[in-house]
Amino acid sequence: MIVVVDFGSQTAHLIARRIKELGIHSDLVLPEQAIETIKKEKPAGIIFSGGPSSVYGKNAPTIDPAIFSFGIPILGICYGLQLTAKLLSGEVVSGKKEYGPATVKISNFKFQISNGLPEEFIVWMSHGDEVVSMPKEFVILGSSKHVQYAFVANEDKKIYGIQFHPEVEHTEHGGVLLKNFVEICKEKVSHHVIDIQAIEKKIQEKVGERAYVIGAVSGGVDSTVAGVLTAKAIGKRFIPIYVDNGLMREGTEERVKNIFHKTSSVKPIVVREERELLRQLHGIKDPEKKRRIIGKHYIDVFEKQMQKLVSSGKPVKFLLQGTIYSDVIESQGSKHASKIKSHHNVGGLPKKMKLTLLEPLREFYKDEVREIGRRLGIPEEFIRQQPFPGPGYAIRIRGEVTKDRLKKIRMADRIVLEELEKAGILFDIFQSFPVMTGAYSTAVKGDEKFFGEVVCLRVIETKDIMTAVWSRLPYDLLQKISSRIVNEVPGISRVVYDITTKPPATMEWE
Ligand code: XMP
Repeated sequence: MIVVVDFGSQTAHLIARRIKELGIHSDLVLPEQAIETIKKEKPAGIIFSGGPSSVYGKNAPTIDPAIFSFGIPILGICYGLQLTAKLLSGEVVSGKKEYGPATVKISNFKFQISNGLPEEFIVWMSHGDEVVSMPKEFVILGSSKHVQYAFVANEDKKIYGIQFHPEVEHTEHGGVLLKNFVEICKEKVSHHVIDIQAIEKKIQEKVGERAYVIGAVSGGVDSTVAGVLTAKAIGKRFIPIYVDNGLMREGTEERVKNIFHKTSSVKPIVVREERELLRQLHGIKDPEKKRRIIGKHYIDVFEKQMQKLVSSGKPVKFLLQGTIYSDVIESQGSKHASKIKSHHNVGGLPKKMKLTLLEPLREFYKDEVREIGRRLGIPEEFIRQQPFPGPGYAIRIRGEVTKDRLKKIRMADRIVLEELEKAGILFDIFQSFPVMTGAYSTAVKGDEKFFGEVVCLRVIETKDIMTAVWSRLPYDLLQKISSRIVNEVPGISRVVYDITTKPPATMEWE
C-alpha cells in the first residue's frame, strides 16, 4: 500500500486513484496523522501531495522530518517537493507563478524513476513558490524553462520530487512516472521477504522424488542463479549443460564450473561444439540466419544430450529456465523479447521434448535475483557481470564469423573490460563491447602500411533496456582502450566510438 499525505491539494484524491489504477492499495491521510498511520501500516511508499500553502506561510502544513529516515521511498509532488526541500535544508523562494502547461526536459536517465520518459514532454504546473536549492545528495533529473528543480532525486534514499503534477491528465507521461515510483516501492518491499528455503521447497514439490531436470547454463546471472538454486534443492537430479560453442566470452566455462563446484555437488556437462557450429556458420552473413543456425544447433545439442540421459536411466521431465519477472513483463512490449528468450532460454525445447518448464525466479526482480545469488555464495563479480547475448560474439561480428575474427574480438573485449575495471567504472555501465565492423581502413605500423579491420567500441547505460544512452567515458580512457586495441590485436587498423542513442539504434549492431 502507498500512503498519500494530503497537504490540501485539489488533486490529492486523484493521486490515490492513479495509484489504485496501478493495482496498489492507496489511502489519503492528513499530515498530522501521517506518522502514526505509517508506523502502523508500514506502507511500501509515501507520496506528499501538492497544496495551496507556501512552505514559509503561517500555519503551513508540515510533517515530522523523521519520515525521511524510515527507509520508505517518498515522492513529493509540488508543495510536497517544496516541503521536502525545506525540511532537508534546501531553499524555496517565491518564484515566478506558473499555472498551466510547461515543457520539461529530462537531463538524467540514470535512475529507474525516469524509465520510459522521453527527453522532452509537456507537464502541468500549478505553483507560486519554487525550489532553488536542494541538499547535495539530490540530483536534478529534469528542468523546465522557469524551474530548474522540476524533477529531482536522492537515489540512495529513494526520495524523489517533482514540481509538476503527474496525476493530472494534461501531464504527458505522468502515469509512467507514477508507475516507476510504484515499481521502486515494490522492489524495496519484496527485498525483505526473499526466503531461499521456501524457493527450494517449491522446486522440490514441483519436481517430486524421482524426476530429473536439465538446464542450459550459459554463464549469465539468471540461469546460473536458477541452476545453483535447483542444484541445492534436488542435488544431482539437476543436470546443467554448458554448450561450448566458441561464441562466449573468455573464461565463461571456467567460471560456471567453479560456481557449481563451490556451491553444490553438481557438475555441469560440457559439450564441445565450437568446430561444428563454425562449420555451420561458414559463409553466413545475414544476422537473422546466424541467430537461427545458433538457436537450432543449441536445440539439436540439447536433444542429443537428453536422449543420452534418458537411455542411461535418468527420466528427465523438466527444463529449467532462468526467466525473471522483468522477462515476464517485457515479453509484452520489447521488440526482441520473444527472440531473445526463444534463443536464450532454448525455446521450442519443452514442447518438442515434452518437458515441463521449471522457472523458480519468475517472481523476482533482477536485484532480488542478484541478492539470491549472493546468498547462495556466487561471487560478486559474477553477479554484477554484464548481460551477454545468447548468440554471443556472432552478432558482434558483422558478416562472416571465423575463428580468426573470434580470436580478435575476444582479445579486444578483454582489453575493454580490463580498462573499464581499472578505471573503476565497470559496474556503472550496462554493456561494453567491441564490434568487428567489417569495414576496413588504412594504418601504418612501423614502416608498414596495411589495410585492417575497423573495430567499433559500444559502451551503453540503460535502466530499462528499451532506451539507452552511450557512456560519456573520459577521453583519456578512450585513448587508452583505442591504443591497446590497435597495438595488441593483430590486423586492427582503427577504433571508433559509437555515439548513438537507443532509439533509434539498437544496442547490438546486428
Ligand atoms: P538491442 O540490440 O535489441 O539489445 O538494443 C537489447 C538487449 O538484448 C540483447 N540482445 C540479445 N540477447 N539474444 C540474446 O540473448 C539475441 O539475439 C539478442 N539480441 C540483442 C543485447 O545484448 C542487449 O542487452
